[in-house]
Amino acid sequence: MNVKEAESRIKYLREQIVYNSKLYYESDAPKISDFEYDMMFRELGELEAQFPELDDPASPTKRVGGKALDKFEKFTHSVQMGSLTDVFSYEELEEFINKTDAILGGAEYSVEPKIDGLSVSLIYENGKFVRGATRGDGFIGEDVTENLRTIKTVPLELNEKLPYLCVRGEVYMPKAVFEQLNKIREDEGQPLFANPRNAAAGSLRQLDSKIAASRRLAIYVFNLQEGDIYSDGRHPTTHIETLERLAELGFTVLPETVKAKGYKAVAEHVRYLGDARPELSFDMDGAVIKVNSLEGRRTVGEGTSTPKWAVAYKYPPEEKKTKLLSIDIQVGRTGVLTPAANLEPVRLAGTTVSRATLHNINFISERDIRIGDTVVVRKAGEIIPEILESVKSERNGTETVFEMPKVCPSCGHPVVRDECGDGAAIRCVYAGCPAQNARGIVHFASKGAMNIDGLGPQVVELLLSNNKIKEIADLYELKIEDIENLDRMGRKSAENLVNAIENSKSRGLEKLLFALGVRQVGEVAAEAIARKMRTIEACMDATVDDFITVEDIGEITATALVEFFAEESSRELIARLKSLGLKTDATAEEREETLAGLTFVLTGTLPTMTRDEASALIKQAGGKVSGSVSKKTSYVVAGEEAGSKLTKANELGVTVLDEDGLMKLLGK
Ligand code: IVH
Repeated sequence: MNVKEAESRIKYLREQIVYNSKLYYESDAPKISDFEYDMMFRELGELEAQFPELDDPASPTKRVGGKALDKFEKFTHSVQMGSLTDVFSYEELEEFINKTDAILGGAEYSVEPKIDGLSVSLIYENGKFVRGATRGDGFIGEDVTENLRTIKTVPLELNEKLPYLCVRGEVYMPKAVFEQLNKIREDEGQPLFANPRNAAAGSLRQLDSKIAASRRLAIYVFNLQEGDIYSDGRHPTTHIETLERLAELGFTVLPETVKAKGYKAVAEHVRYLGDARPELSFDMDGAVIKVNSLEGRRTVGEGTSTPKWAVAYKYPPEEKKTKLLSIDIQVGRTGVLTPAANLEPVRLAGTTVSRATLHNINFISERDIRIGDTVVVRKAGEIIPEILESVKSERNGTETVFEMPKVCPSCGHPVVRDECGDGAAIRCVYAGCPAQNARGIVHFASKGAMNIDGLGPQVVELLLSNNKIKEIADLYELKIEDIENLDRMGRKSAENLVNAIENSKSRGLEKLLFALGVRQVGEVAAEAIARKMRTIEACMDATVDDFITVEDIGEITATALVEFFAEESSRELIARLKSLGLKTDATAEEREETLAGLTFVLTGTLPTMTRDEASALIKQAGGKVSGSVSKKTSYVVAGEEAGSKLTKANELGVTVLDEDGLMKLLGK
């Protein structure tokens, strides 16, 4: 094939791929098979490699992700990316409409869904997508061009070659994709994303665009930031006209958007959207009401970071009724028996819910929740939903009162009421209880502990039930051959698991102390103890008084530690782990307490690290991390999409840092 022929074939393939991908993703009505699509895609990639002079950043082959980055570059927005004032009731909404109507002498509004995702700006030059960035603090965001390129609904080339355009949209993860992703993560023992928004944020912030590409994100464009959408000198006069024109140019614009005049009509669509929420393919956390006329917007004006011509109506957390089918008892790592509800599956806030926590027996009896009851469930930001109440009026007499078992459902030993707790905790105190053992191993391998990738609850269960392990230390003697033939495993996953276990040997005393699961000893305490004690031998020899000298360790924790290290089984386990090559000394230097006495609050998504990582750095340097902002807070570290904590910090005059500022403070 010569260059001329290649050029025409490449053009044909690109057009076909773009056209068919649009059919597939937007109308869900593909005209060709996946196989035909894949073949065209492969042929295009091969031709582009063969004729590099014909390559183009706007080619659909660029959607699969490229080389991983070290970090995201900062990006300064030429037009501020503001946010919206929230209203939480119909009264407040009516107030907004009446006030705005009074200024404008009556107005038309657009009522649209508030997509729960991440705001980004997309820049096009000569009709081609050249750059895209996150909102950041509204002025400076991060350049996430490569990740945005992988999103199928970000057009790489517009239908008209306009000189310059900057649009704003919301990147989100469709609910169905979110459920699939979490299912896979659950199977692989990885931590679950709490909701589609977090999943979208985590995916868009991947330095490796191949990972971002695999997450199947999508975008809805909702605003023109800058530039001309017409090439003949015309200008749009309304927001809806702008959206329609952006759709013509190839963008996927906000769905379910209508025009409405007066409070009644506006509220009607807000209600309609609220009711439609469960059926929509995307998560929405509110409705946005905006003045439609662009001239009208100029008249009403702007506040410092929010426009006066728009508000976001926030829906209360979604609640649903369903049937409580049965109650299971889960035995935790420390032997506590926790009741969990099995529910008739119900769609709630973007996911299908069939389990809910019931906390403890007091929770159940105080609310008189019975098996067979209709119950109200709610999801408020957490992965596991909770039961709010049972609907007594829907009882028919067949419901049964639940009682906690007298023996442990796992080992059959009698259970006891926990004296130290609030009296509600019921505990199995048998040291050899298989459920406690399994939970203990899962905890040992978990992220904050030894961080063994791929060793989640299912795999632990698999290893235990096939007699491949009996206790924690056996993990370190596992061989690939022991694992590869087990259900749903294989050579590659067995190799990965053995490598992950091997790598965990070097975590050091900080992680090991937490991983051992001593009662009362969380991640922070384990770290503080390791820094002070330095070796596991010192911990084994320490008295209650010795432990109390460690920052924030009180008598209860100190006693639990001494009791743990006095037990023969603990000592045997530690000796075995040591002989298997685990590092049992502290890894970190005895710290220079540069942040001693300072309290930090973290909020929003930081550019290069998770909040947990930032928190660990602060604690390493002797600082404290708190969950809420008060006058005593020394610094608030704010990232992308920071919310009320940032507002509170500003109100109280607390110094706000970004990630760079924090790193400077840490001397990094
Ligand atoms: S308009 C200047 N419309 O909600 C007004 N925002 O605080 C710009 N969002 O970060 C916002 N759906 O990312 C607008 N239909 C919509 C939206 C929307 C979601 C996000 C946006 C912003 C946040 C508002």
